[in-house]
Amino acid sequence: MNYLAGAGFALGAFNQSAMRVSPENFRAALGRWASGVTVVTARFKQGAHGMTASSLVSVSLSPALISVCMAKDARTLEWMTASQAFAVNVLSSEQESLSRHFSSAETDRDRLKDVAFGELSTGSPVLDGAAVVLDCRMHAMHPAGDHVLCIGEVVQTRVSDKAPLLFYRGEYRRLDPKV
Ligand SMILES: Cc1cc2nc3c(=O)[nH]c(=O)nc-3n(C[C@H](O)[C@H](O)[C@H](O)COP(=O)(O)O)c2cc1C
Repeated sequence: MNYLAGAGFALGAFNQSAMRVSPENFRAALGRWASGVTVVTARFKQGAHGMTASSLVSVSLSPALISVCMAKDARTLEWMTASQAFAVNVLSSEQESLSRHFSSAETDRDRLKDVAFGELSTGSPVLDGAAVVLDCRMHAMHPAGDHVLCIGEVVQTRVSDKAPLLFYRGEYRRLDPKV
């Protein structure tokens, strides 16, 4: 902390509660972070499950690592923990309905029942028509507040030139090809 002290920055002067952002302000700020939309899937024994997630981050080039952040009570997390593998399906601009399907509490049973999918190296479900697929082995899991940061080692990719589905301020968006 010497470099902070040197800059005249007195950390002890802050009131701890004043340093805590409200949930509303947190959501308002992060909602203005434009992201893509993925469906994270996992298979264990005879079953499979998946959920919509926008928390994909590139972590490391060598080894090839990515992270997704899953709510502690997300059922998909149980499948990922059991199988120690998962696939990140980056949705194309034509797959908004899949994003809604995989995030709805009403479709939480048998989510993959009427969805077309295959598999790559890990056996995790790979959705037909996804713009990009990252097939991952679980590398590490770190508790982080009410979520678990899941770091995956990418063992296989499937890439297309399909335009991505975007999410911004609580709404689905698409790239403007003119920009
Ligand atoms: C655009 C979008 C992005 C989302 N991103 C995440 C995410 O990164 N992590 C997460 O835990 N939940 C995320 N969710 C919420 C989950 O998709 C939702 O809670 C889902 O029903 C969980 O399913 P499960 O409990 O059956 O696994 C997102 C939802 C939407 C619509």
